[in-house]
Amino acid sequence: MVNVAVVGTQWGDEGKGKIVDIYAEKADIIARFQGGNNAGHTLVVNGRKTILHLIPSGILHNNKICVIGNGVVVDPAVLLQEIKELQKGSLFPPNTKLLVSERAHLIMPYHRSLDVAREAQNSSKKIGTTGRGIGPAYEDKVARRGIRVGDLYDEELFREKLHHALEEKNFLLKGLFKEKPLNEDDIASEYLGYAEKIKPYVADTSLILDTEIKKGKKILFEGAQGSNLDVDYGTYPYVTSSNTAAGYASCGSGIGPNAINNVVGICKAYTTRVGQGPFPTELKDAIGEHMQKVGQEFGATTGRKRRCGWLDIVLVRQAARVSGITALAITKLDVLTGLDKIKICVGYKSDQGEFTEAVPYNMNTLSKCKPLYEEFDGWKENISRAKKMGDLPANAQKYLQRLEELSGVNIILVSVGSGRGETITLKDPFRN
Ligand code: IMP
Repeated sequence: MVNVAVVGTQWGDEGKGKIVDIYAEKADIIARFQGGNNAGHTLVVNGRKTILHLIPSGILHNNKICVIGNGVVVDPAVLLQEIKELQKGSLFPPNTKLLVSERAHLIMPYHRSLDVAREAQNSSKKIGTTGRGIGPAYEDKVARRGIRVGDLYDEELFREKLHHALEEKNFLLKGLFKEKPLNEDDIASEYLGYAEKIKPYVADTSLILDTEIKKGKKILFEGAQGSNLDVDYGTYPYVTSSNTAAGYASCGSGIGPNAINNVVGICKAYTTRVGQGPFPTELKDAIGEHMQKVGQEFGATTGRKRRCGWLDIVLVRQAARVSGITALAITKLDVLTGLDKIKICVGYKSDQGEFTEAVPYNMNTLSKCKPLYEEFDGWKENISRAKKMGDLPANAQKYLQRLEELSGVNIILVSVGSGRGETITLKDPFRN
């Protein structure tokens, strides 16, 4: 049986939600393996827009198992709110199961407070985080002082861990950031309250995934953010605090790497970024504005305007290498409709005049790099009804062909609009 991981090849917001939603139909299990509610997957189903931050996009489908794996950081208030919203809209099918790993780490109120306080204090060194407490929660995990979902069911242990954590966090909040300290009893009763409500969903998800794999079930691993936000291979320090690369689908869900057969990289037909950090192909002109407006490039989590620019194949190639991407899905091609000329960045020229086709490790070097472009003629026709490559204008086909050559990865899907049906499907990643 073939299992598939879907990952972003840029800085997140590649339109993974729609593609995961399409592939979820073909899978039995949809598992998230990293990140938390910093993600925002926007889905348009039957004309209704739904944004999921934490729950896998597969939840909208009948008869699936949706897993929030051990590599995810879970804010239980957000989890419960999303469950409620889905149920209210009758979008949580009764025969679909939601499972949360008992090993996933909890986002605590002090994680959010520290995230926001650090960003406010460090105005010159700001990362531009989503303020959801993601970084501080992962810090505690790695420092071996985190509180895990399963700890909620051992009250003594939970209270002891909370007490220990708050001693340090309140010291930081009060002493360093001049913020109000947080109350231990309030947090304990809030979180023990969540414990009861989320109990039906909590499980040993690694064991369940293994059992399902042995039954021949198909898993879709749903990546959040994108390759350039990976804590190791992204534009560090302007990254998120987890590994977004496909390899982490294994660690973050508790199954071996040989269970991941295909990796689909989601690549927007242009590039966007939210938050701080270098962005070589950024356009601060009318074309960037066109992408921002037509592509409705606002952050799904924070509502911030996304920075926009030309497709940067240097970044996509690195993503393909780091994640072992076996196929590309191109999204939002329709947003480029109407532009006279379209460009792809194929390499960088450093401030020393050197040419490179690799992403420099040093962010100061990257921020001084000038993009080198190949230029293409645009198209004016509406492409939203295209169902096969031949339906696209010749110039759009040329752009995609060159993208495929430059990235070295085959394109298996092209999205030409936000609806599920506005898609050209060339190959099913669940079939080899
Ligand atoms: P954090 O993940 O909230 O710590 O934010 C770190 C960086 O990652 C910031 O630049 C955020 O804007 C960015 N980021 C986090 N999640 C997403 C996402 O889902 N899409 C795009 N950018 C994200």
